[in-house]
Amino acid sequence: MALFSSSTRDLPPVASVPQHVAVIMDGNGRWAKKRFLPRVAGHVKGVELVREMVRSCLERGIRYLTLFAFSSENWRRPQDEVTLLMQLFVKALEQEVEKLDRNGVRLRVVGDLSRFEPRLQALIREAEARTAGNSALELSIAANYGGRWDIMQAVNRLATSAPEKLGAWTEADLEPHLAMHFAPEPDLFIRTGGEERISNFLLWQLAYTEFFFTPTLWPDFNAAEFDKAIASYQQRERRFGRTSEQLTEPPDA
Ligand code: IPE
Ligand code: IPE
Ligand code: MG
Repeated sequence: MALFSSSTRDLPPVASVPQHVAVIMDGNGRWAKKRFLPRVAGHVKGVELVREMVRSCLERGIRYLTLFAFSSENWRRPQDEVTLLMQLFVKALEQEVEKLDRNGVRLRVVGDLSRFEPRLQALIREAEARTAGNSALELSIAANYGGRWDIMQAVNRLATSAPEKLGAWTEADLEPHLAMHFAPEPDLFIRTGGEERISNFLLWQLAYTEFFFTPTLWPDFNAAEFDKAIASYQQRERRFGRTSEQLTEPPDA
């Protein structure tokens, strides 16, 4: 049986505080450019905002936070920016994991990690192992992640594990193989930086997620900005295909 209800097969529980928030942290480069700073200064500031976001989630009782840190398409950036982003990732793991652990945060990195240098891969494994027993907040960093990659790796694993059911696979068969199988589908998706697109983030998992786009650049996305996104989420009527009237009717006996 699946661990969580699925938005297309069941009616997931709807709480006033989103259980799972997924974020595309965009706008670091523009934030730096506005200040006549190199792009990397925006990424450095961006890491600080990740710290603030984690704190906000712990305070608000949000159980899952998934952050898009590096997409499978971000390798197309200039080589020196890619190198600096990798160095920042290493530094963040070296400096932050102890504090995350102390605060009961479980860290996972989702994506195709095979393309990262061995040292980074080892740091990721260590951080995941060290925090594996924590449950106050499940923090997932999507790195070298792509929604299409995720679906395809899941299909390939399913093909290997259940070849006898080929041609009759269901959504429920695929879901345990997806990178985010350990979390419910996101309730709230936030993209900062003004672009209104998914950029190959969680394609499968966002099927019924509420979207919030803001022009605020990621390095400016503080707790007050996050609260605006939560307030917007709280105004939404999550119908999952039903009519508005059905939501207020008592459930069938
Ligand atoms: C998001 O900020 C961070 C990463 C993609 C790593 P950007 O670097 O995309 O910032 P903009 O969009 O150029 O402002
Ligand atoms: C998406 O940001 C990925 C991350 C935030 C890590 P980009 O800034 O790379 O997205 P596009 O390519 O402009 O859509
Ligand atoms: Mg961008």
